[in-house]
Formats: sequence, C-alpha cells, structure tokens
Amino acid sequence: MDHLRLGVNIDHVATVRNARGTDYPDPIRAAILAEEAGADGITAHLREDRRHISDADIDGLMAALTLPLNLEMAATEEMQAIALRHRPHAVCIVPEKREERTTEGGLEVAQDENRLAHFIAPLRDAGCRVSIFIAADPAQIEAAARIGAAVVELHTGAFCDLHAEGRIEARDAELDRLRKMATYAHDLGLEVHAGHGLAYDTVAPVAAFTELRELNIGHFLIGEALFLGLGPAIAEMRRRMDEARV
Ligand code: PXP
Repeated sequence: MDHLRLGVNIDHVATVRNARGTDYPDPIRAAILAEEAGADGITAHLREDRRHISDADIDGLMAALTLPLNLEMAATEEMQAIALRHRPHAVCIVPEKREERTTEGGLEVAQDENRLAHFIAPLRDAGCRVSIFIAADPAQIEAAARIGAAVVELHTGAFCDLHAEGRIEARDAELDRLRKMATYAHDLGLEVHAGHGLAYDTVAPVAAFTELRELNIGHFLIGEALFLGLGPAIAEMRRRMDEARV
C-alpha cells in the first residue's frame, strides 16, 4: 500500500506554554523534532480565541519549516486573510465553537455550500490545498466535492470515544462507516485524510484504509511525549501506521 503521511499536530505544545505565559515549550522546536522523527507534515490550528497556537507561531512555522504546514482554521474572514498572507501548503477548514474543549464535530458543508464555495475559492487560487473536516456522512462528502475541495478529512473522534467507552459493537460500526466513506470520497475524486483522538490503540484499523493518504494526530502524541520523549512517541506512531499498511 502507499505511504500514509503523518501530520503531527503541535497545538498542545502551545497549550502547555500558554498555561504559564512563558515562551517555552516552543511549538516550532516541536515541529522540527517531529520532522526528524518521521512526520510528513505539521498541523496547527489557529483558533479564533488563540487559546494555543498564536499568530507569531504561524509566522515562525512558515519561516522555519521545511515540511508542509497544514493550517487548521474556521471559515471566517479573519482566518481567510491570515491564510492568504501565509499561503501554507494546506488549509483545513474546521467548525469552531468558542466554548468547546476541542473540535467536536465535522463541518456542516451541505447546509452552507454556497458560502463555503466562495470562501475556499481564493485559497485554492492562492495555491493552498483545501481540506474540509467532516463527519463520515455521504451528504457532507458530496457537498465537499461540489464546492471544489481537494481533500476531506474524516473525523475519527466518535470512533475513538466509542473505543475508550468499551462499546465494541458501536465502535466497529463507526469504523465500518469511516471505511466506506473513505472509499466513497476517494471515488468522487477527493483525497482522503482522517484524524482526531487517534492513539496507539486506535490508529491501526484506520491506517489500514486503502484510500487514506494522511492522518493528523496531536493530543495523544504530545501526552505520550511526557513519557517517551517527542521523537520516540512519533516514531512509534509511525511504526504502527506502517505496520497496518503491509
Ligand atoms: N484533525 C483535525 C481537523 C483537528 O481539528 C484535530 C484537532 O485539532 C486533529 C486532527 C488532531 O486531533 P488530536 O489532537 O485529537 O489528535
């Protein structure tokens, strides 16, 4: 099977930094380490409330990185202007609610098709690969294809939550849905990525989807880095991904 890219999300290095208002730990240092450890890309979510990644972090990442940057952001005018200024390799459009702990669901594309089509057009024209973070739902996938997105990222959060809760039947049904929707999106001409909540014990069955090109993983890796170190934590994830694809 093809190489499955690993995008390492470094948001939570910034979360730890911001908890004390210091200038360490530095997310850019983490990004450079991630590259050395086998990451294929770096993902960072510039949230509207700047709770973790800052504007200065994006400046620093654009200047320091040799790996492609995947900038996650809400579909707002402010974020569009920032993306157009930096022109990162990829822009992933995510839903954002101020009060949420993390990105809770996928983007509602089908109900907001016209606005999103206009929103992503300049990003595409600027050379960014536009990805849409969605639930594994045929209506959302079809809408993402219609608005001209290059990529859909399927939300694996529900699958991971069901696994953690030990709800095996529901978990396996969700995995099956993700697999079928990865095939469906691929057949519509979309590149398929996945992510959210993935850990060592959940990555393999998702990494085994033939049509998948990239996984984006953050929170678990930054947590695991406390015990193993960031490089070894990423290398172990990389190993499990590669093992799932033979
Ligand atoms: N993909 C997207 C679109 C996300 O919003 C996030 C979380 O920021 C991730 C992947 C990574 O999720 P996690 O940090 O749970 O691995």
